[in-house]
Amino acid sequence: MGRTVRVKSFELAAKDINEVDVKLLHALSIGVGWPHRPKDWNFLRRAGHGIVAVDGIGRVFGSAMWFPHGREFATIGLVITSPRTQAQGTGRWLMEQVFERCGGRNLSLNSTDAAYHLYLSLGFTKEAVVYLWQGEVASSLPAVPVLDGELHSLSAENIEEIAALDERAFGTNRQKLLALLAEGASICVLRRGGETVGYSMNREFGRGHVIGPIVANNDCDAIHLTAVHLRDLAGRFARVDTREQTGPFADLLQQSGLAMSETVTTMSKGRRFLNRKENEPWVYGLAGHALS
Ligand SMILES: CC(C)(COP(=O)(O)OP(=O)(O)OC[C@H]1O[C@@H](n2cnc3c(N)ncnc32)[C@H](O)[C@@H]1OP(=O)(O)O)[C@@H](O)C(=O)NCCC(=O)NCCS
Repeated sequence: MGRTVRVKSFELAAKDINEVDVKLLHALSIGVGWPHRPKDWNFLRRAGHGIVAVDGIGRVFGSAMWFPHGREFATIGLVITSPRTQAQGTGRWLMEQVFERCGGRNLSLNSTDAAYHLYLSLGFTKEAVVYLWQGEVASSLPAVPVLDGELHSLSAENIEEIAALDERAFGTNRQKLLALLAEGASICVLRRGGETVGYSMNREFGRGHVIGPIVANNDCDAIHLTAVHLRDLAGRFARVDTREQTGPFADLLQQSGLAMSETVTTMSKGRRFLNRKENEPWVYGLAGHALS
């Protein structure tokens, strides 16, 4: 694969994402209307790997990141081409650079509408739709069903308590990512009969907070694991990315003041990514679009 790409009069080369000033990454995401703040970019750089497309004088025209979990699987995200150089091959070139570096892993990503045909043409297939619910959290939440079990807060040091549960829901062990997420998160676990059956995290991101990951066996558990954070966030801006379009979990989000504002499409290349089974743990809330 070519180490550079020619776009208009620019020759762009790939550079490690850690070698550029975070302000340039922030400008890139602002340019396409994304809410990431510099500290979100810094977090993502700690969580994964990435490249930027730079010209001869160090200007950044594109980015792409990948987040490997072991040798078999990685998620891809932060694929951006600056608006003035879009539709000229940079996005495709960035993805080909990422494929080389992902070393044959099974891949998954959450595609925007703008990128969907690019990913289809690169061999990704559609699996599900992700709904982004966001807004100012209402001061009073709707009534919630009776809780089966006990909710407890979990400290970041005890994150291994949720590792096995998360692996069953996510399909791959992502313990290192969970440990990083936990550093800045408020974490809640649901225990039932001495067993940990669900967890949720709430952390700062973008315009406010994101509640995710949320992992639970059923809607009722997911509702409690989410409501506990929504109560803390009353009057503040929050988002939840979920594959639940309708039903009790989506109703909770709507009745708590959040509105469904956009969708992205979960796609995979290689092994199928999502594998929902009844009464088995499921990811009700994503860690983030790039992290899944
Ligand atoms: C999605 C995105 C990364 C694509 O980058 P790009 O540099 O424009 O991509 P390319 O030029 O390699 O184009 C890829 C394909 O999409 C097509 N395409 C790109 N922009 C298009 C447009 N505005 N309308 C129609 N087709 C378009 C190209 O024709 C190309 O297809 P082809 O190779 O068969 O000709 C870019 O549009 C972007 O940054 N969008 C905003 C952020 C975003 O949504 N990122 C995706 C996150 S999952």
